[in-house]
Amino acid sequence: MPRPLVAVLVAALVLVLELPGAHGFQIEEATVASIQLGFNNGSLTSMELVRFYLDRISRLNPLLHAVIEVNPDALRQAARADAERCSGRRRRAIGALHGVPVLLKDNIATRDALNTTAGSFAMLGSVVRRDAGVVRRLRRAGAVVLGKANMDEWANFRSFSGGGWSARGGKGRNPYVLSATPCGSSTGSAIAASASMAAVTLGTETDGSILCPASLNSVVGIKPTVGLTSRAGVIPITPRQDTIGPICRTVADAVHVLDAIVGYDALDAIATMQASKYIPRGGYMQFLKKDGLRGKRIGVPNGFFNFPNGTAQQMVYERHLSTMRKQGAIVIENLDIENLSVLLDFQNNGQLIALPAEFKLSLNSYLSNLLYSPVRSLAEIIAFNNAHPVEENMKENGQTIFLVAENTTGIGALEREAISQLNKLSANGLKKLMREHELDAIATPNNAASSVLAIDGLPAITVPAGYGKLGVPFGLCFSGLRGYEPRLIEMAYAFEHVTMARKMPTFLP
Ligand SMILES: *[C@@H]1O[C@H](CO)[C@@H](O)[C@H](O)[C@H]1NC(C)=O
Ligand SMILES: *[C@@H]1O[C@H](CO)[C@@H](O)[C@H](O)[C@H]1NC(C)=O
Ligand SMILES: *[C@@H]1O[C@H](CO)[C@@H](O)[C@H](O)[C@H]1NC(C)=O
Ligand SMILES: *[C@@H]1O[C@H](CO)[C@@H](O)[C@H](O)[C@H]1NC(C)=O
Ligand SMILES: *[C@@H]1O[C@H](CO)[C@@H](O)[C@H](O)[C@H]1NC(C)=O
Repeated sequence: MPRPLVAVLVAALVLVLELPGAHGFQIEEATVASIQLGFNNGSLTSMELVRFYLDRISRLNPLLHAVIEVNPDALRQAARADAERCSGRRRRAIGALHGVPVLLKDNIATRDALNTTAGSFAMLGSVVRRDAGVVRRLRRAGAVVLGKANMDEWANFRSFSGGGWSARGGKGRNPYVLSATPCGSSTGSAIAASASMAAVTLGTETDGSILCPASLNSVVGIKPTVGLTSRAGVIPITPRQDTIGPICRTVADAVHVLDAIVGYDALDAIATMQASKYIPRGGYMQFLKKDGLRGKRIGVPNGFFNFPNGTAQQMVYERHLSTMRKQGAIVIENLDIENLSVLLDFQNNGQLIALPAEFKLSLNSYLSNLLYSPVRSLAEIIAFNNAHPVEENMKENGQTIFLVAENTTGIGALEREAISQLNKLSANGLKKLMREHELDAIATPNNAASSVLAIDGLPAITVPAGYGKLGVPFGLCFSGLRGYEPRLIEMAYAFEHVTMARKMPTFLP
């Protein structure tokens, strides 16, 4: 879109977006807690919320490309939630997400009018057997499925386009600085959360796909320990690393969503069984502590904060470290993660060998489970892309990784060796460092540490931290060992509370 046209669009949007929602309830930026208050004191209904978001999507989406489909059933679901609340006709107690509209990344299956396509045309019209495990949990909690979020097509695994591009959804834009990358692959989820196009959203991460877009769109992203949330019914890359997590405007909202989606699922049995021991009795809300930084040992490993002196990032991150110390954290700088350069090198750490083989196996398995699909294998997707070179932007994006994956023949000696190298790197790297220094977390910028975490299924939370000279957001990421969600939430919540860094989107050119 040419710049002047963008400017006019933005001017028009900003004017319209000033309008308050129903009965004076301010829906823009509304938190889950305030939405529930609004429901309870009669100043808001779920129907009004859905109308607000649908209207906002229709205005903003031509510019931001955050949403790939809206749910034709959303208003009916909202009406049902409103009726349940009024009549008290509900078996379960009304939880935090009851009547709350949630937007799902387009690789998360729903058994309804919505398509599940990972951004592609190849899977348009495919019919899933059932909702994804996390969606079943959201529906049980009474949430309203608002629609599907745009994403980097095939979670970036077709090519490394990286900016939220998909054949069906177009190219995502950063709502702060429209020309800046919104990052991927959970691009639409992060943009929609940031620009109040949904109350809350879900993203998925294999290596950075929640942490990066959440950081660059100034929202909170939780990447749960692998297995804490079910991957059943989610278009996969690798079960060794894939995880589903919330992207929201506040830590508390993200924790509400996390509480709703964690837990055992027979269709992702081994991983969810193993991780279920990490789920605390009473859920995660108890860890929203304003003094959550007190006494925490936070490592700052070398090699991540490489911002030149005098840049906004360098100054702001420096200030945040000192703020955390003032809040009672023990911040330990100058730590070394062994073999960090290898760990961060996708080509040499083992991922380039393991992932393509795992991807082919798990994608073919997902495709074979569908009730109907125009494509039934990776090979057929490759053929589809070759047959639709214009729609699929083949000239620019190609499908190199698909071809590499199609060439693999399962998990053989080579792949096993790569996976064992990844495990060894993690054991000698972050895990050893955390144990030796008794760390509760390491702090790193944005998604800088995502590969270090990805290879071992480790959890992380990113929180808005500041804005660069041109207004592009950045985040601070807390990460740790498997099952460390409770203390990561404590630190992230306290950090958010004391810094209050998030500002509303600016829509700068
Ligand atoms: C109801 O709660 C909302 C959210 O806290 C608040 O903004 C609004 O003023 C309240 N309205 C009434 C009538 O109490
Ligand atoms: C799903 O895709 C079909 C095309 O196969 C389209 O007709 C339909 O409108 C899509 N559903 C939604 C909710 O957009
Ligand atoms: C940045 O400033 C600090 C202290 O002011 C100094 O020790 C350091 O060498 C500087 N780094 C660079 C890269 O200039
Ligand atoms: C696939 O394997 C063949 C035979 O080993 C090789 O020649 C070809 O370059 C491979 N293609 C890709 C994309 O890796
Ligand atoms: C990590 O580095 C050490 C030397 O610091 C080396 O002995 C070891 O083999 C490396 N591990 C891996 C998995 O690359």
